[in-house]
Amino acid sequence: AQLHKLAVQAGLRYFGAATDTPHQRERAPYPESYAQYDAILADNDEFGQTTPTNGQKWLFVEPAPRLFNFTEGDYVADLASSQGKLLRCHALVWHSQLAPWVEETNWTAPALADAIERHIRAVAGYYRGRCHAWDVLNEALDEDGSYRQSIFYRVLGEEYIKLAFRAAAAADPDAKLYYNDYGIERPDSVKTAGALRLVRMLRDEGIRVDGVGMQAHLHADNHPSAEDLIRTSEAYAEVVEEVAFTELDVRIKLPVDEQKLQWQKECYQKVVEACVRVDACVGITLWDFYDPFSWVPHVFPNNGASLLWFEDFSKHPAYDGMVETF
Ligand code: XIL
Repeated sequence: AQLHKLAVQAGLRYFGAATDTPHQRERAPYPESYAQYDAILADNDEFGQTTPTNGQKWLFVEPAPRLFNFTEGDYVADLASSQGKLLRCHALVWHSQLAPWVEETNWTAPALADAIERHIRAVAGYYRGRCHAWDVLNEALDEDGSYRQSIFYRVLGEEYIKLAFRAAAAADPDAKLYYNDYGIERPDSVKTAGALRLVRMLRDEGIRVDGVGMQAHLHADNHPSAEDLIRTSEAYAEVVEEVAFTELDVRIKLPVDEQKLQWQKECYQKVVEACVRVDACVGITLWDFYDPFSWVPHVFPNNGASLLWFEDFSKHPAYDGMVETF
């Protein structure tokens, strides 16, 4: 049985995978691999949900002020509609992959507030009704749990967070609105405390925030326990209605060996176990599913093999591990 089908039987809404437009994918090892890749992605018993890895980011959708381009984002959004998959949309406000003009402008506070509102109105408005969830705000926290000193924070302080969620709620009333971040999967970390503070702040202001997304870019050799993931998820669920694992991958320090693949399998299984056991956990999304298309080797030197399908399309042990756990 395949992952989405099992996930739904276990009470989740979805099991999915992010994907990218063909020309933004990392290189595939041989030409036939694209067809094999597309066939796995198209199987709705395997993946019932998808997220555009890059195409909806500010850099692509508003490369110049008020110049909107949805070509990249539409590729994955259209794939989701034609295949009948749920779409998670990603990401409206983020300091990275931001269009250069946003950082190059010498902003007054009201002008930047307008630019953020206009961006959200245009982008979330364009996709209105099609996004099951929107990552409204991505990675707004530093490692110590304080607010990241992005252009948004430097000019507007905490206000930018409030106005972003208000604008998203107005632009797409049906999408679940998420705060999404990495390194917020463990219960006792200061960054997790920061994420809890952030969503509580919104709730206390009466601003709608529906979910916390734990990106879950994890390490095979040092991963959280299922109990940790459950405790963290339950803590978020006291503030917001739902949680999800939004960008799951489990990197291995190269070279790959049986021991490390075993640790990786255990890590993937713990995420499944946690999501199944937490009522508020709606789903799990892999950050792509095919190793050659993973971002990991490009960003973390000497790390790789973080997904479920090897380059030759054989499956990692983690795949069967998750099947067992569901
Ligand atoms: C990554 C993509 O996978 C890469 O292709 C891109 O070059 C950089 O961004 N957190 C996020 C994602 O929220 O958007 C990032 O995706 C990975 C980390």
